[in-house]
Amino acid sequence: MKSEKFDNKILELFKKHDDSYLSGEEVSRALGISRQALWKHIEKLRETGYIIEAVPHLGYKLMQVPDKILVPEIRWNLKTKIIGREMHFYENAGSTNDIAYELARTGAREGTVVIANEQARGKGRLGRKWASPEGGVYLSCILRPDILPNEIPKITLVAATSAVKAIRRFSGLHALIKWPNDIFISDRKVGGILTELKGEPDRAVFVVLGIGINVNTPKHMLPEKGTSIKEESKSGRDFSRVDFIKEVLIALEKEYMKFKGGGFSSIRGDLKSFSCTLGRHVNVMTGKRKKIEGKAVDIDKDGALVVALASGKRERILSGDVRIER
Ligand code: BTN
Repeated sequence: MKSEKFDNKILELFKKHDDSYLSGEEVSRALGISRQALWKHIEKLRETGYIIEAVPHLGYKLMQVPDKILVPEIRWNLKTKIIGREMHFYENAGSTNDIAYELARTGAREGTVVIANEQARGKGRLGRKWASPEGGVYLSCILRPDILPNEIPKITLVAATSAVKAIRRFSGLHALIKWPNDIFISDRKVGGILTELKGEPDRAVFVVLGIGINVNTPKHMLPEKGTSIKEESKSGRDFSRVDFIKEVLIALEKEYMKFKGGGFSSIRGDLKSFSCTLGRHVNVMTGKRKKIEGKAVDIDKDGALVVALASGKRERILSGDVRIER
């Protein structure tokens, strides 16, 4: 068995018995290793940041898990069936989307997730940069949906709905979606989605879904008009990024499964209720450098934003950069 496997088994035992001490003898017997080998594993876990108390005649007890992104911690009790069954973690990545794209190209299975503690070249939508210092959550997920390439915007909306649900469950904060991919809290951007596609004319080969959320991101590192969950919660405490990642993976699996089973209409109601765009006067730059101004009145069955112009005409927008005017 690999050394990490023993570490995980030890942690598993400690977590199952989090209200009692476990003797060295019990643990080493359960793992089939010597007391001395167990001691070495405990020391290694302590170096990683786990606080493990050792009391003579009583044994060991796990007192604290470090607030680092650790894959075994994410895996702990994670009940998802597809999303995150395979996980890759990087302390410092270029862009998790780029890494996931390469993995997908070489056959990685649906649900594979790439997570980074920080990114040096975080990518935003429309060729923008995504500030990615330590404190945020940066993850990309490989999906292989059976859809046409022009249906990809729907996947962005599935992800935005999942991100809002995860933030609300995790922090109680009133997160909203600025169509199509921005996540807002109190009129400030807390996160975004970047969906990239490898497609053939008649099918999407795979999709890389990138989600970036400012969780504990230090204030001075946030972009102008940006915010974080920590900033908005006003509690001053750091949040567990591990717990947040779990929440995102669970929400993503739920919404994606709904989408796969029942199509876009099965998430459309929630999506519309989370929208901070609908009912507002907007200014949209579409891909064709065309500017559309009017009132956002609907997100239609294809995920398009429907804008009512002053002339009374309605425009369907499938992609664009939205500015909310009033
Ligand atoms: C946006 O709002 O413009 C989208 C931001 C998406 C950022 C995430 S962070 C994880 C993934 N890797 C990247 O390089 N970008 C996405």
